[in-house]
Amino acid sequence: MKKSILVLLAVFMMLGSRADEGMWIPMLIGKNYDEMVRMGLRLSEEDLYNINHSSMKDAILQFGGGCTAEMISENGLLLTNHHCGYDAIATLSTVDKNLLDNGFFAHNLKEELPAQGVTALFLVSMEDVTKKVKEAVGNASGEEFNKKFEAFAKETEEKSAEKGKYVANVKSYFNGNQFFLIIYKRYTDVRLVGNPPKSLGKFGGETDNWMWPRHTCDFSMFRVYADENNQPKAYSISNVPYHTKKFLPVSAAGVKEGDFAMIFGYPGRTNRYEVSYGVDLSVNVTNPSIVACRDLRLNIMHRHMLASKVTYLQLTSLYARIANYWKYFIGQTEQLKRLNVIDKKRKGEDAFSAWERENHLDNGLLAKFSKIYADYTPYAKHSVYYSECFRASALARMASSMKPLYDAYERHANDKQGISKDTLDKYINMAKSGYRSNTKEFDLGTEKEMLAEMTELYYNNVPKEQLPDIYAKVILKGKKEGTKKIYSDYSAYVFSHTFFADSNKFMSFCKAPSYAKLKSDAAFQYALSYVTNYTKNYQPKVEAFSIQKADLARQYLKEIMEQKNFKNMYPDANSTMRVTYGKVQSYDPQDGVHFKYYTTMDGLMAKYKPNDEEFDVPTDLVSLYKAKDYGRWADADGSLHTDFLTTDDITGGNSGSPVINGNGELIGAAFDGNWEAMSGDIAFDKKYKRTIVCDIRYILFVVDKLGHADNLIKEMDIRE
Ligand code: ARG
Repeated sequence: MKKSILVLLAVFMMLGSRADEGMWIPMLIGKNYDEMVRMGLRLSEEDLYNINHSSMKDAILQFGGGCTAEMISENGLLLTNHHCGYDAIATLSTVDKNLLDNGFFAHNLKEELPAQGVTALFLVSMEDVTKKVKEAVGNASGEEFNKKFEAFAKETEEKSAEKGKYVANVKSYFNGNQFFLIIYKRYTDVRLVGNPPKSLGKFGGETDNWMWPRHTCDFSMFRVYADENNQPKAYSISNVPYHTKKFLPVSAAGVKEGDFAMIFGYPGRTNRYEVSYGVDLSVNVTNPSIVACRDLRLNIMHRHMLASKVTYLQLTSLYARIANYWKYFIGQTEQLKRLNVIDKKRKGEDAFSAWERENHLDNGLLAKFSKIYADYTPYAKHSVYYSECFRASALARMASSMKPLYDAYERHANDKQGISKDTLDKYINMAKSGYRSNTKEFDLGTEKEMLAEMTELYYNNVPKEQLPDIYAKVILKGKKEGTKKIYSDYSAYVFSHTFFADSNKFMSFCKAPSYAKLKSDAAFQYALSYVTNYTKNYQPKVEAFSIQKADLARQYLKEIMEQKNFKNMYPDANSTMRVTYGKVQSYDPQDGVHFKYYTTMDGLMAKYKPNDEEFDVPTDLVSLYKAKDYGRWADADGSLHTDFLTTDDITGGNSGSPVINGNGELIGAAFDGNWEAMSGDIAFDKKYKRTIVCDIRYILFVVDKLGHADNLIKEMDIRE
């Protein structure tokens, strides 16, 4: 008896809900409502989520696929992060008209700039379809489960989309134990309204990224446009600003320690129920491999970016994206070790296995996990190097996209009539779209170096017996391994014997495709060797592993949910709307060190380094600082507050999320997490986990005093 209580207690400690932790489903927020009120919320339950009347959900949207944004006026004006608008801003910039460097603010609707490819996704409704999915999948497991689930999802989504009126998704929660059908409306006419100069929007650069204390002014503004009926329509000058059912008023009153703060948004992915074996593999194999590949890739890119302004603008968005998760994986590994996450997970798992035995659930789930991880481990590194090293080369990606065409040629090699025109067109179009998506980030100088370096890195890290045959047959044939020159010579050879590196040559191939020409192209031969080797011999192992893992993870969580009676549990992030609540709070990163909950302009100026790539600031800002001219945006203490901290539970995808006070007013834009809690996607640590927020007053100061955009200040509902 005593033992089982202890065991239960340990399991609860491992999995139980703690205040601040949790990415809750807005539709089910009722169960947390009382606690939110105790913490300082003054809105009604219906204000948070209501399907028939306007509620928070109508003011929050998924921005551009990977970020969050919020409506801040009734006419479609939205706020998101600078790093979320970064790609659009860089794409709209030229060396002569450099919006990224100089900043940009539209002073009327006419000056707003169409941001091609940027989308705004609004939530219409959510429905629990768990029962229907369970009926559809029955007792299936493994591949069978996936097939049945996908068939159900496809049919349901098609029906619910009403011929393109909506976007519908059936999404899995709790590792496949609960399912929701989610309906959205997608707007595609989105225009850039304003952004600070990069020196402020990305102040601190990669050095300060994922760190506190922070002074970044990480915001940008866009506007959603619609047709005359407020419905989505592709860009057109006749479109008008989208009229929103709900937008967030802004509080310029400032925040203090202990204030209630909640965040709505679209967190991408967490893995809080990951088992110790998975954490072990990340810490020892996959994370260090990702970091090693990115180290080299970033180095090459950066050198070429600094040498040319055109290349800088061309590569900066990709660079920031790669660098962001390069540092993420460094931090995650460091914190998983520091916080002994593997040991803690193991203890919880031992207790879980004991509970299983006591309840005669002799599934031995953890032993099964152990076995599949052991079987997979010899291939894990190769899988990372395939995507992070081989595919770091844009040339390799472009050439890979011709593989389906090549396969078709092979299939029809003995037919008299050869490939039909339709088939040929289909594969040529596939290759063209693969090509187009890579040309934007294709810089010849960078690419020549990238191919040489990545080919060498792959050779040095992937187990020798797993390497593609191009090394033995071509690259190293008759040569002494270990010399750099082999790889630079090989790269030079490939670039002078390929039609992929020149878009005119590529297009003429597409006009008159030929099997012989494709087969003899050096870049294609290179890609073919890697792709064939990997997809034939290793990808099946990766896929089998992930199917087995999904089955076990579903079972594992099912038992945990039974054991806990489903109480206080929230599902892992899955790119659907969530709400998290907590408060404004400082923290102690290490023994003897205290971090305040906010930073100021004084701290920013202390970091200022003229002409530095990361720590420069606009001269206008220096003048405003000297004059202490912060206008109505100054704090009661006279300083201008820049960023602050809350205890909310967010992750990647939440970027740009509104931080909302107890009255439902916007107090800032969430934009980052802190170094000491970089393990947070796998294990939430209450002591260290913080959200980094750009204070709304800092944003308004930049819009007003640097951007002189009175039009925007007037458009918002700002409360003192
Ligand atoms: N760490 C931030 C996030 O993931 C992104 C910051 C982007 N800035 C950068 N320096 N790469 O939301």
